[in-house]
Amino acid sequence: MPTPTSTSSAPTAVAGAAVASAPVVFTRARLLTMCTGAIEGHDSIAAVDGRIAAIGGPAELRHRFPDAELVDLEGRLVTPGLIDCHTHIVYGGDRSAEMERRLAGESYESIARAGGGILSTAAATARLTESELAAAALPRIDALLADGVTTLEIKSGYGLELEVELRCLRAARRIATLRPLSVSTTYLAAHVVPPQFPGGSDGYVEQICSHYLPAIAASGLADAVDAYCETIAFSVDQVARVFERARALRLPVKLHADQLSNMHGAALAARCGALSADHLEFTDADGIAAMARAGTVAVLLPGAFYFLRQQQAPPVRALRQAGVPMAIASDCNPGTSPMSSLLAAMNLAAVEFGLSTDECLAGVTRAAARALGVLADRGSLEVGKSCDLAIWNVEQPAALVYSLGSRPLYQRVWRGARLPAPGAATCSI
Ligand code: NIG
Ligand code: FE
Repeated sequence: MPTPTSTSSAPTAVAGAAVASAPVVFTRARLLTMCTGAIEGHDSIAAVDGRIAAIGGPAELRHRFPDAELVDLEGRLVTPGLIDCHTHIVYGGDRSAEMERRLAGESYESIARAGGGILSTAAATARLTESELAAAALPRIDALLADGVTTLEIKSGYGLELEVELRCLRAARRIATLRPLSVSTTYLAAHVVPPQFPGGSDGYVEQICSHYLPAIAASGLADAVDAYCETIAFSVDQVARVFERARALRLPVKLHADQLSNMHGAALAARCGALSADHLEFTDADGIAAMARAGTVAVLLPGAFYFLRQQQAPPVRALRQAGVPMAIASDCNPGTSPMSSLLAAMNLAAVEFGLSTDECLAGVTRAAARALGVLADRGSLEVGKSCDLAIWNVEQPAALVYSLGSRPLYQRVWRGARLPAPGAATCSI
């Protein structure tokens, strides 16, 4: 392993939405571009105004950018900054008591039907202010940053009432001003029916379509709309209504689909032109074919599969055969995936779902960017894209998937600015 260089200066201090404007040339990098694999003979990357300005040889880039600061990466592996494309990271309270109930034999569904589950987090969330919600999320966010994450999706969905949903989305946007990372926000419109809602689930869907969605669209606080299609949540017809309204308001959609049963959610998502269908443990061949036709990304969430001790894994082989891009995300949430590690999600996707290490790496870069609709800007190392990098203290890319808890990050680069890995080792012996 290389020792830290003395020629490069300290990482740039950046908070929130600042970008590095001084040109930087990173040299002696082993670039895993995620577009064409490692570029032979090209070990340098130039960042100007936060974007990748060039990829090439060191002499060529020094010549083209004579004023740039030179940063010697001493042979380290460099990947695109990782993208966690599915989280519910903004919430109040915790559900450790529910874990004890499940360990004693109760199921996730029965706890949810008895008023626990999402509803219990909703009650704890409603008690917090916007800044308390952001503060509660920060330790979890910092853990993801320490895994090399530079883009994070954050869903609302524990607010249920419009005012609290807006508060959660504002907290998500605030996080992007408190930490150097890009945040994509999602309004998880139909997550659970609030207790005693007039007209029950249909009444709530009507309220979402007539009032909540237009208000959310007008607020500009949501980049996309999500729903939970499940026997304990919303039906295909109800989700279709929500999606129709969202699309009329020009908000892209995505879906929690076929997690606990085959509701034909994947097919619905594809039919509605969804960016992604997520979970998919019970998705059938028709759903997969529909996703392939529509270009809908499969977002695999092995943390929830593991934590719920599910027996049926998503149909990875069939998804692969059909050419459906597979993303991997942490699903960080208090109920089914209390996990703030994208590297752990990659390991679980390999061990539990049988993804190859290459698929795992694509799953947290290119495919994840596509699931968020940001592939033109992120997800691979290409000229013109945002210079978001994860720089690693590992010999092989597979090492990022192979171990658990080893903290391999050397440094993150977000929009061209170098940031220390929170709490990670910066050198090795
Ligand atoms: O992605 N499925 C719905 N939403 C979350 C779980 C929410 C919860 O139990 O708090 C998920 O698994
Ligand atoms: Fe989720």
